[in-house]
Amino acid sequence: MAASDHGIRLGVAYYPEQWPRERWALDAQLMADVGLSLVRMGEFAWAQLEPEPGRFEAAWLDDAIDLFARRGLDVVLGTPTAAPPLWLVREHPDVVPLAADRHRVGFGNRRHCCPNAPAFLAATDRIVSALGERFGHDDRVCAWQIDNELGGRCYCDHCRSAFRLWLERKYEQIELLNESWGTAFWSQRYDDWDDIGLPAPDPVPPGGFARRAPNPGLALDFRRFTSDSYVRYERRQSELLRALIRPEQQITHNLMGFYFPEVDYASLSAELDFVSWDNYPSLDPTRSWTRPALSADAMRGLKRRRVWVMEQQVGPLGWEYVHTPRRGQMRLHSYQAIGHGAEALLFFRWRTARFGTEQNWYGVLDANGTVGRRYEELGRLCDELRRLDLLEDAEAEAEVAVLYDYDSRFVLQVQPTNAALAHEATIHRWYAALRRLGLGVDVVPRGSDLSAYRLVVVPSMPVVDGTVGADLTAYVDAGGTLVIGPHAGVRDPSSAAPLRRLPAWLDQVLGIEVTDVASIDDPVDVHGLVSGAIDGWSEELAVLDATALARYVDGDFAGGAAISERRHGDGSAVYVGGAGDDAVLESLLRTVCGRLGLPLFELPNDVELIPLRCRGERLFFVLNHGDREQRIGLSDGTWRDLIGGAVNDRFIVPKFEVLLLRPEETGRQRRAEEEEAVVAG
Ligand code: GLA
Ligand code: ZN
Repeated sequence: MAASDHGIRLGVAYYPEQWPRERWALDAQLMADVGLSLVRMGEFAWAQLEPEPGRFEAAWLDDAIDLFARRGLDVVLGTPTAAPPLWLVREHPDVVPLAADRHRVGFGNRRHCCPNAPAFLAATDRIVSALGERFGHDDRVCAWQIDNELGGRCYCDHCRSAFRLWLERKYEQIELLNESWGTAFWSQRYDDWDDIGLPAPDPVPPGGFARRAPNPGLALDFRRFTSDSYVRYERRQSELLRALIRPEQQITHNLMGFYFPEVDYASLSAELDFVSWDNYPSLDPTRSWTRPALSADAMRGLKRRRVWVMEQQVGPLGWEYVHTPRRGQMRLHSYQAIGHGAEALLFFRWRTARFGTEQNWYGVLDANGTVGRRYEELGRLCDELRRLDLLEDAEAEAEVAVLYDYDSRFVLQVQPTNAALAHEATIHRWYAALRRLGLGVDVVPRGSDLSAYRLVVVPSMPVVDGTVGADLTAYVDAGGTLVIGPHAGVRDPSSAAPLRRLPAWLDQVLGIEVTDVASIDDPVDVHGLVSGAIDGWSEELAVLDATALARYVDGDFAGGAAISERRHGDGSAVYVGGAGDDAVLESLLRTVCGRLGLPLFELPNDVELIPLRCRGERLFFVLNHGDREQRIGLSDGTWRDLIGGAVNDRFIVPKFEVLLLRPEETGRQRRAEEEEAVVAG
């Protein structure tokens, strides 16, 4: 990957077009002085780069790149297509997306561009080619960022035509579409592709009335189509660039973490040389450390390679409310991102904006350009990371994978069914339960190779087909341990109910059948080898070729199995027939992981442990996300904190502090001796 020979690299987003030219040199110098080596620019500067259609003015950008390069900063160049200029909108008002209510947002913000509008595509080709021609062989530019945070649904006529074409390619015959969507229901049959409209926008929240909810097959295909539109749009840009740039320049796009549910990031990232993403921990409404951690692991899981954080929060920010990191959290969250696989962090943004809607996004410098606390903290972080150059060889270690899936996500958007089944929240609860035990976790999309994992957890997968079923079965047959959450295999890929025993395509490997389901208002206790409560959603299981790990204590399914397990050779397949509470998740995971011999830790709630593998050794990041000091002990010999310097087998971690622990010689020696003994024995 680009320039990994520099250890963990730090940088910032800089907008030369927003500041007087006389200031650029000072900014470049301040960046270099503080220890930065990367600067991203250009991603919103279309109006300055192409002030009139076909007239390009890139000399100013060239000058800016030059100033920064002279100070040793490599440039990440953004294609500016997230912010089309007025001339394009004036000439082609149809480039602006249409909301579901037929309202056009208009000029004056950003992302006012429909990924299927021909005029937008033509203008994109022009500006991207012009930039590629000018900077594609420039060794001051190390990487390209395509557009900025792609996403947004559009209901315009271009999208409608493109959707019809997309459907025609997919189904070829209208009859197959009718069958697949089940248009016999409510006389929804289509005779012609041109009769197909776009689905109503959003489902009614659980508990509301959904009289106008669209056909689920149509709604699912529309979501896939929207996602594909962005994947195609990104590919269009990356293909243009690839033909123009030298191979050393890498192509990326800044994704929005795990929680952005509209674009299939597995497909989007396939075209990219590396994944980068935008990380704003303070924007998380729950403030739990597990949510940014989940995003980070999911972003690394897309290519199962290290990533860049293209925007890392540096200060207070927010539109309606200014979310404010506590003192020390900028550094803490940076280490968290690095621990989860970031090899470069670019802080957002260098200087607080004087104008525009992001005046409340505090940068490294204040709006008036003065250097203050955030600059100094950044400097200390740069110094620290320079000493920790071994981190460039650190890889996240994970024997556990959490599997997620975009079709399932889309289907649950259309038919939420029960709040206790929400895709993102359910994935997060399982992920958090694993991480609280100190386990390293890969978060990977459906279709990923699972063979390296000891345990695979599938918290939320309503959409299953024969291939998914066969892959998961093969994983168990090969000795893997599989845990599947409720509401699995209830839809096929066209969103139809499968003509099979539920969970469809998984019933055999699990050895069960789901015979009834219920939304429940009060939690129901479950008891057995695993204990706790099922809350919100419960399922009745017929245990055919499995054993019950827990049974319902009361409720309509009292006495029946709530959690089942089928052992098969060395492998095992567990089904959790309801939304388990934290006690269920923890006791189940302790049982399963304990049996597998995975190393489990007793950790205080606010403490995150990140296992890494580095130059043949095990390392641990220990992050105290709470604002009280915490004590932790590691049983396995003594450890050296590579950040603070202490050597011990127990540590006090002050609030918002970080340790990076490496086994100390004695511990390592002892283990080496033990291993020798094992070999000798
Ligand atoms: C996104 C965008 C940035 C900026 C930040 C603010 O990540 O990419 O341009 O708007 O949000 O948080
Ligand atoms: Zn559109």
